[in-house]
Amino acid sequence: MTTSVLDDQSPVNLSDSPWAVETHGLTKRFGDNVAVDDVELLVPRGCAFGYLGPNGAGKTTLIRVLLGLTHADAGTMSLLGYPVPRHRDVALARVGAIVDEPRFHGHLTGRQNLEILAAARERAARGRIDGSLERVGMTHRADDRVSKYSMGMRQRLGVAACLLGDPQLLILDEPMNGLDPAGMHEMRDMILSLVSEGRTVMLSSHLLDEVERTCDAVAIVDNGKVIRQGPISELLAGASVEVNVECSSPERARTILSATALGAQIDVETSGLSIHLAAGTGRDAIAEINRLLVEDGIAVYRLQEVQVSLESWFLQVTSRLGESE
Ligand SMILES: Nc1ncnc2c1ncn2[C@@H]1O[C@H](COP(=O)(O)OP(=O)(O)O)[C@@H](O)[C@H]1O
Ligand SMILES: [Mg+2]
Repeated sequence: MTTSVLDDQSPVNLSDSPWAVETHGLTKRFGDNVAVDDVELLVPRGCAFGYLGPNGAGKTTLIRVLLGLTHADAGTMSLLGYPVPRHRDVALARVGAIVDEPRFHGHLTGRQNLEILAAARERAARGRIDGSLERVGMTHRADDRVSKYSMGMRQRLGVAACLLGDPQLLILDEPMNGLDPAGMHEMRDMILSLVSEGRTVMLSSHLLDEVERTCDAVAIVDNGKVIRQGPISELLAGASVEVNVECSSPERARTILSATALGAQIDVETSGLSIHLAAGTGRDAIAEINRLLVEDGIAVYRLQEVQVSLESWFLQVTSRLGESE
């Protein structure tokens, strides 16, 4: 029953927003340092969303503001359609979060820790302990002391703690931090399965690769500002296209192509060229490169369009900022 946690003065009609998280002009300063700078964020429901940026970009601060752990200096925000801080209690009843490292009592078992946390939540939470432990694959270690857990197990127990509230939205701050490759793999699978149940997972990360593997959509943040956001596939479509050409006479090939209207940046490599075509360039440009070279008597051995990873795209977007400011 989705209405069970709503109290009589709850804004029931506000919860059908398509956004799990929505912010407008959200700003948080520490003195002169603008840690969250006029952020317009739209996190669609039912997806894994990455808040991606280098260390110090303002990811944790944004999450802390969303959760009401620190106040915003300007802007508005809502969680699951509920404006916060106005309706924070109703909103947070449906949100599970891990900020920084999950903290537990080391001398108690995983299960005992969950029992303490469940006691602070609504009555149904206690009944979810076993299911939550099972959900994160920790049933077999539930009765061991947390001090004996690996980092990966603590993270999983952290997710189990979130699940006590049967949240529609999980907000995880750097969930891959401190995990070994196997732990990252488990965390990724867990996030994907939470999303497949219809929950929204918003995670922050400085690990491009993990975000690319785990998330459907992303916001890229640098110096507190969101530079780009949207589905990863759409963002990549806006990246430049790289084409590798293996050919005879690379220098001459470059001269030929530079004289055309392709508008490409061309680097000469040992066995050919690496060509960066502008964003939105169609496949016809690749055929055109081939035609121009062959017509001028250059032997083309191989033409390959290189898949642009989120990482190279991220660097395209952020390096420019660092240099120009
Ligand atoms: N409590 C605080 N007091 C002063 N400055 C802070 C505080 N928390 C974060 N900052 C600053 O805000 C900026 C963003 O930090 P943070 O949100 O932790 O970044 P991220 O999580 O992306 O690494 C940094 O410049 C950091 O030094
Ligand atoms: Mg952080």
